[in-house]
Amino acid sequence: MRTLLYGGSFNPPHLGHMDAVRAALAQGWADRVIVMPTAASPHKPLPLLSPSAEERYALCVLAFAGMDGVEVSNLELKRGGVSYTSDTVDTLQKLCFEDEIGLLLGTDMFLTLEHWHEYEELFAETHILVLPREENELPLLREKSAEYMARYHWSIQVVDKPPLPLSSTEVRRALPERKGREILSEAVYAEIIRRRYYGAKPDLSWLREQGYAMLKPRRIPHVQGCEELAVAMAERWGVDRGRAAEAAILHDCTKKLGAEEQLEICTRFGIEPDETEKANEQLLHSKSGACIAKERFGVDEGIASAIFWHTTGKADMSVLEKILYLADAAEPNRDYPGVEKLRRLCMEDLDAAMVLGLRMSLDTVKKRGQKTHDMSRKALEFLLQKEESKL
Ligand SMILES: [Fe+2]
Ligand SMILES: [Fe+2]
Repeated sequence: MRTLLYGGSFNPPHLGHMDAVRAALAQGWADRVIVMPTAASPHKPLPLLSPSAEERYALCVLAFAGMDGVEVSNLELKRGGVSYTSDTVDTLQKLCFEDEIGLLLGTDMFLTLEHWHEYEELFAETHILVLPREENELPLLREKSAEYMARYHWSIQVVDKPPLPLSSTEVRRALPERKGREILSEAVYAEIIRRRYYGAKPDLSWLREQGYAMLKPRRIPHVQGCEELAVAMAERWGVDRGRAAEAAILHDCTKKLGAEEQLEICTRFGIEPDETEKANEQLLHSKSGACIAKERFGVDEGIASAIFWHTTGKADMSVLEKILYLADAAEPNRDYPGVEKLRRLCMEDLDAAMVLGLRMSLDTVKKRGQKTHDMSRKALEFLLQKEESKL
């Protein structure tokens, strides 16, 4: 069996890596490819905020899952320290002694072979498959390949395939800008967002797809309206519009779940429902929603807190918490007496809007014969006292 070793930092693994593996297998030399994330690269240190070796390994498992003839190995990761390919090839030869071993390399690595640890022994006993990283690199690769073969008699094949012009640096740069989704596999992208590696922020169209799939279809227009008003308010009141959108898109993400599931999520995250919530389990969706938004989409504490308090409010709310509470109550699809005034106040006076919104909500609950929530009363008292202290 011929095994092709594909090492690298995979920080993160992207569609270009997957394309390289497919091209290498299609070329016919190898029966299988072993993808080998490095513990620590001898060639370049990892940039700050990079995931750990274990985390990059987990991303590789997600990226290459389901690709025939491809395995992801944690051999270098378990060995620890600087990952020299010569050590890895030695180990692979011992583990699978009938194998011929090849190395899959990109242009940058190929050009520096004479600087590798124990390179003469290493390349004397391995086959080399090299892929261009840019369109115009083929002549350079062929020339360098001829030079190596003349000098060392190494076995080298240049794969004549147009590359996908992608790089991990480009991916890392795109992710904090809510971009990069299209150059990663779905599973890798979802995991990066969940763990917020590289300071990633979710592409909002992707987040809408994910968030809407968790809703009953009839609730989607409400969530869309909520996002529209929350973003307008974020601009008006100086909050990041992307964070307001994330909060609005996910605020009702557990609403369709039954009481039992809501309780199970709260228990799992150590949240004890109070007496009012036990009597009206609908109130729990804000708490379970905040937990799921954090667990599945890695939202920051401020966004999670806005979701957590969106049904009741609380004393001393942040601007984002007020924005979500009010956008939920006054979004354009809401139609009840007084909503026009509330909507106007949302853009004119945030605290006055909160006072009106809380009063209307407390009145509605009383009229229904239900117990009003402590936190809503405290939220109102806090705002009224704040108002009084200004006089
Ligand atoms: Fe809600
Ligand atoms: Fe809502």
